[in-house]
Amino acid sequence: MKSSPSEMVAIIDFGAQYAQLIARRIREERVYCEIFPFDASFEEISAGNPSAYVLTGGPRSVLEPGAPHLNPKILESGKPILGICYGMQELAYACGGGVVPGSIREYGRAELFVDAAQSLLFLDVPSQFNVWMSHGDTVTELPKGFIKLAHTQSCALAALGNPDSQYYGVQFHAEVRHTEHGRTILRNFLRKIAGLHHQWEMSSFVDQAVEEIRARIGDSKAICALSGGVDSAVAATLVARAIGNRLTCIFVDHGLLREGEAEQVVAAFRDVLHLNLVAVDARARFLERLAGVDDPEEKRVRIGREFIAIFEEQAARIPGVEYLVQGTLYPDVIESKTPQSKEGAKIKTHHNVGGLPDVMALRLVEPLRLLFKDEVRRLGVELGLPAHIVERQPFPGPGLAVRILGSVDDERLRVLRRADAIAREEIERESEERPWQYFAVLTPLRSVGVMGDFRTYGNLVAIRAVASDDGMTADWSRLPHDVLQRISTRIVNEIPEVNRVVYDITSKPPATIEWE
Ligand code: XMP
Repeated sequence: MKSSPSEMVAIIDFGAQYAQLIARRIREERVYCEIFPFDASFEEISAGNPSAYVLTGGPRSVLEPGAPHLNPKILESGKPILGICYGMQELAYACGGGVVPGSIREYGRAELFVDAAQSLLFLDVPSQFNVWMSHGDTVTELPKGFIKLAHTQSCALAALGNPDSQYYGVQFHAEVRHTEHGRTILRNFLRKIAGLHHQWEMSSFVDQAVEEIRARIGDSKAICALSGGVDSAVAATLVARAIGNRLTCIFVDHGLLREGEAEQVVAAFRDVLHLNLVAVDARARFLERLAGVDDPEEKRVRIGREFIAIFEEQAARIPGVEYLVQGTLYPDVIESKTPQSKEGAKIKTHHNVGGLPDVMALRLVEPLRLLFKDEVRRLGVELGLPAHIVERQPFPGPGLAVRILGSVDDERLRVLRRADAIAREEIERESEERPWQYFAVLTPLRSVGVMGDFRTYGNLVAIRAVASDDGMTADWSRLPHDVLQRISTRIVNEIPEVNRVVYDITSKPPATIEWE
């Protein structure tokens, strides 16, 4: 499924750690782009008719045997090219310039001096500013027709360009935040040099995606597992726009969602969006499977297995289903086909929600597979999804079961659900900028307290709130003390089983975000 608009930029990935970041920055400029491994065939790359190319950085040297090289057909296509870091070296090398192994490796911040202020690439940026460098090799000799655009103290050719062929290169990483004016430089390339004028908007994505889904599914039927999360919700709503009631959404209430969430999911999808929804009350079944199990991995495995079993039972009741809708996002797709994975150095398999397709003979429909998370949220707004779904914070598939340390039962779920609701309420009441994720954890610890004239022996609840971009790393949020105080007072006063509240001040790494 493409859903790509008339203008698109092809990013050629030479194994860069920043390839995804380049894609995000380009999309932030409302220009559609896709990432291709450097060794993708030209037919594959040119299928979307790219208007321009961006060549990424990479860990290798263009001079070493077996180094990844630019497909010559890209140069022959005559489209504008921006090379970044390795991409600039490769562009210069391919155009006949000289590249040598650097005598000094340059890492981190460097001051850039613009030599060609009239160049379109450096329009609206100062003549001197800080950039982020990370390279060993350097371009020492300009290819024919190129001019020097900028230098740093240790890199004589830190930016170069050929205004006739519209080939440009920057040795620094324009895509990282540490590079001042990086956004402007990328925008200049896209708008001023490549002349892209289209604004990639979600409204046009919807129309095109709906058409493509219709063409793919035809008169057949599809099913989708709704988890309550934003990805499956947006994917289901989009597919329902295309095929209406021939999509059946299955919501398995495993009893491990937060306070009010199961009811909210049913209300939003059945009563507001009028989706064809089967809601399965499986709370008792999950509790039975979890009884007495306190090992975190065992809990996850049992929940996953039970989920698949129930989903299969429900799917078997709907005759003629051929398609399974999943909310797979672009980062998962990219990771499954980076150049490294092709070379076999770092194989990371594409993981799909709940692992469903492996056990079911259904064809996949992944309407979000070219979108980043923030774009999925914008798409959700465009489709009229309620704010509590579009803005939902990340929530683990196994739900509250991994926030109750030790075994899970009805009583402990009730205590955690209330504590978590209070914590969220107080954090949301106070802060305009909410943490990326915030929740309560119920520990098996009990401690002594005193209430009135009585000694208590109650549960310990921990509060976790973190700042993060993608969940891979996280810092604990500096919540205001009065918010923490209100959370603590309310939890201890309103939940008789709890007599102590602590705040988790550990980052990830070394800790993880969830406690299990
Ligand atoms: P950790 O605890 O590994 O979590 O630092 C990173 C992010 O992933 C979420 N998480 C999960 N999400 N299924 C999911 O869909 C899971 O099993 C799962 N476990 C953790 C977690 O909430 C955090 O945002």
